Amino acid sequence: MRIQVIFGILLIFTQAAMGLLFQDPVVCRFSESSRCYVALGERLHLQMPLEDVLELQITDKTSTSHLILKYRKTQSNPPKPNDPRWQFVKDDKTMILTSAERSDSGTYTLDTFDANGNNKGIYTLQLNIEAEVSSVKMWYSCLSPGVMKVYCSADGDNLRFNWSSDLNTFPQLQNGSSTVVLNKDHHGNVTCNVENHVSRDHNTTELHPCPEPTTEVISSTTSNDGKSHSSLIFLCSYVCMYYVFP
Ligand SMILES: *[C@@H]1O[C@H](CO)[C@@H](O)[C@H](O)[C@H]1NC(C)=O
Ligand SMILES: *[C@@H]1O[C@H](CO)[C@@H](O)[C@H](O)[C@H]1NC(C)=O
Ligand SMILES: *[C@@H]1O[C@H](CO)[C@@H](O)[C@H](O)[C@H]1NC(C)=O
Ligand SMILES: *[C@@H]1O[C@H](CO)[C@@H](O)[C@H](O)[C@H]1NC(C)=O
Repeated sequence: MRIQVIFGILLIFTQAAMGLLFQDPVVCRFSESSRCYVALGERLHLQMPLEDVLELQITDKTSTSHLILKYRKTQSNPPKPNDPRWQFVKDDKTMILTSAERSDSGTYTLDTFDANGNNKGIYTLQLNIEAEVSSVKMWYSCLSPGVMKVYCSADGDNLRFNWSSDLNTFPQLQNGSSTVVLNKDHHGNVTCNVENHVSRDHNTTELHPCPEPTTEVISSTTSNDGKSHSSLIFLCSYVCMYYVFP
């Protein structure tokens, strides 16, 4: 009865968040995969085997272990987890974390016993909390005539970048990097895809060929250290146009 109420409330607040790979709440089971990824702030349901005695502990990134739950079927009152952020639902042996934090990452070890104290198995689960990919931004600059550098940035944990483009000259090898250098002038759309274990997002920018340097910019050099100054202004005629005023 109580579990139905809890699930009912959860369903009301469940929304299909954009870009998330797993639906909220994420359900992780000790019996299935040994690794589980949850987005920062997402709900987690940790399902444990239906044994009579359960002891759950976490070993965090600093190798510190502490007990989270000790459950015995014979107890008259269901136990309260040692960490108040967790809830224990006795009926289906589920631990619920309302909002995952980075500090919840770690190795969870579950010891199970039957009513007579016989060991029924030791399970481990690696839980990883990652901030989802957000704010994917792209821009580019012209380094010198015909040489472009395209940049991509994003927020989130453990980001992986890859690139796609309608340009058939686009380099294919640089998919793991957040910058790409193009050695020819390009006109076309380039997309930067960013993903981690919990989400993905992308952004697209249209590249325009780098402008020819104008004589005005070069002839505006008047300082004593003419050479270096001139190259600064020269570079600025490219970088400023695309980077500062895209
Ligand atoms: C794509 O990138 C541009 C420039 O970096 C930024 O202004 C824009 O908000 C981004 N679009 C999305 C959907 O994130
Ligand atoms: C780029 O992607 C291909 C295909 O997925 C992969 O084989 C290759 O290792 C990737 N390169 C980098 C630098 O990530
Ligand atoms: C880039 O994409 C936009 C929007 O889809 C399109 O209007 C434009 O023609 C594309 N540019 C090129 C050079 O293909
Ligand atoms: C690039 O990323 C997109 C979205 O994150 C993904 O669908 C695609 O498979 C990736 N491509 C490669 C070659 O890794």
